[in-house]
Amino acid sequence: MPAPVITAVDLVKKYKDFAAVDGLSFEVAPGESFGLLGPNGAGKSTTMRMVGAVSTRTGGGLGILGLDPNTHGPEIRSQLGVVPQADNLDAELRVRDNLIVYGRYFGLPYSYLRPKADELLAFAQLEDKAKSRVDDLSGGMKRRLTIARALVNNPRIMLLDEPTTGLDPQARHVLWDRLFRLKEQGTTLVLTTHYMDEAEQLCDRLIVVDKGRIMAEGTPASLIREHSSREVLEVRFGSARNAEAAEALKGVGDRIEVLPDRVLVYAHSGEAALARVTELGFEPMTSLVRRSSLEDVFLRLTGRSLID
Ligand SMILES: Nc1ncnc2c1ncn2[C@@H]1O[C@H](COP(=O)(O)OP(=O)(O)OP(=O)(O)O)[C@@H](O)[C@H]1O
Ligand SMILES: [Mg+2]
Repeated sequence: MPAPVITAVDLVKKYKDFAAVDGLSFEVAPGESFGLLGPNGAGKSTTMRMVGAVSTRTGGGLGILGLDPNTHGPEIRSQLGVVPQADNLDAELRVRDNLIVYGRYFGLPYSYLRPKADELLAFAQLEDKAKSRVDDLSGGMKRRLTIARALVNNPRIMLLDEPTTGLDPQARHVLWDRLFRLKEQGTTLVLTTHYMDEAEQLCDRLIVVDKGRIMAEGTPASLIREHSSREVLEVRFGSARNAEAAEALKGVGDRIEVLPDRVLVYAHSGEAALARVTELGFEPMTSLVRRSSLEDVFLRLTGRSLID
């Protein structure tokens, strides 16, 4: 096993008495794509800022590329690419100049930066926007530019805090494709998300985080296998009747969850569960059978939905 590029041991961040990160332990291997999946307020951004060596920890141990961020912040930061949760592009500068000026912060020479900026604009599919103002870009384009900018120093690790939040499905897919290419090139990716499909698409391995603690860890497939059934039947009886129907359907499938708008029946075969629901005399207004997802894992572990 190669040495991990990130090692966190009982990592803690407190704001006064409140522990935003409450004892996280995890390791990230070189070339791995590692995710932190959790709802709003879980402590994802707080963790990313400590890993990015821009926020000091309150307790525990943290090693980034074998260095302690408390004592080696600049060395660590020079080897990271950071995509913060909110884009912080320089609106005064044109698109291509954002890349060059950012590279200058790292002390990189123009002779390196000019061709690098063109390479990154191509990677981000922004070649024809090189001279545009940042404000004239769409949300997805701004996100791609932020990712391109984070790559200017050829980072060994990319930290991506909610890379696609707020984007429409098409823009998300374009971004996923770019991130997938980085992964194929061997860049270590650490990303946070509260989208289970994003975690399933991009992460080799992930931790499910809630209230600053790890609820589960594994590959997307192993988490689903361990914490959910193969399939889920979603049935709707109308918001006034869902709870009552769920009570009567107890025993159908392995487990039942009631959400405000629907009832989830966890079962190996969703179709067989639906047949049983009908046999019991229930006529759902709508029914849908799907495979279990990380959303179901999260619901099982915390009793709450990922997106509130
Ligand atoms: N500077 C701060 N001072 C006090 N509390 C903070 C500070 N930053 C974050 N917190 C609190 O720490 C908790 C974790 O915040 P954090 O931003 O890490 O969550 P998150 O998982 O990134 O959530 P989101 O999905 O909404 O981005 C929250 O309860 C938040 O209010
Ligand atoms: Mg956050």
